[in-house]
Amino acid sequence: MMAQAAVGLQVHVTALVESATSSTAQVVPDAVVGRADDPQALRALAESADVLTFEHEHVPNAVLTDLRAAGHAVEPGPDALVHAQDKVVMRRRLEDLGVPCPRWREAAGVEDVLAFGDDVGWPVVVKTPRGGYDGKGVRVLERAEAQAWDLDWSWPVLCEEKVPFTRELAVLVSRTPSGEVRTWPVLQTIQRGGVCAEVLSPHPT
Ligand SMILES: Nc1ncnc2c1ncn2[C@@H]1O[C@H](COP(=O)(O)OP(=O)(O)O)[C@@H](O)[C@H]1O
Ligand SMILES: [Mg+2]
Repeated sequence: MMAQAAVGLQVHVTALVESATSSTAQVVPDAVVGRADDPQALRALAESADVLTFEHEHVPNAVLTDLRAAGHAVEPGPDALVHAQDKVVMRRRLEDLGVPCPRWREAAGVEDVLAFGDDVGWPVVVKTPRGGYDGKGVRVLERAEAQAWDLDWSWPVLCEEKVPFTRELAVLVSRTPSGEVRTWPVLQTIQRGGVCAEVLSPHPT
């Protein structure tokens, strides 16, 4: 999608793709095959480009920080990306900004999850802070399920109050380094099993 828009702007796009037959490789002629979590592949791509960006959050933050330190332009920066990479960081930031959030807590063990659920009411939504997507890493647990939960607890999980919502809306916002902000039309998304199955654009009023 970025490549299509770039044509009109005469911006040349190169991409790091998972395979030579991926959808991106079909529209970006000189796409390079490599992994988004491979520091060497990212460095090679950065050497060949004026600006580096990403289209998903599973790019190691530390590698992007190193690339910036080495003088490469990375936009948005790793300090922005971390909010998409870590749901606890995102919750903390939204709360600091005064954005309404479900009640939440970081839990280091099953006792914390039980205490939280007893506090806010069951069921609770439990999330792996990092690495999840498309509902993977998100579970809705009743008390008995939480009690029997077999997790290795090598890192904390994010517990959230279950919000009774009627629909989910999404909006894409972009900002130039100089501060110009543009928004795209608000969409309604319909998730099935935590995966976005349908998008209504513009959202029905
Ligand atoms: N606190 C919550 N209350 C109710 N439903 C939730 C809550 N958090 C997440 N969900 C549901 O689970 C879906 C996936 O959760 P999300 O945090 O967006 O994870 P992902 O990283 O997989 O997109 C959401 O789109 C929403 O439908
Ligand atoms: Mg989501």
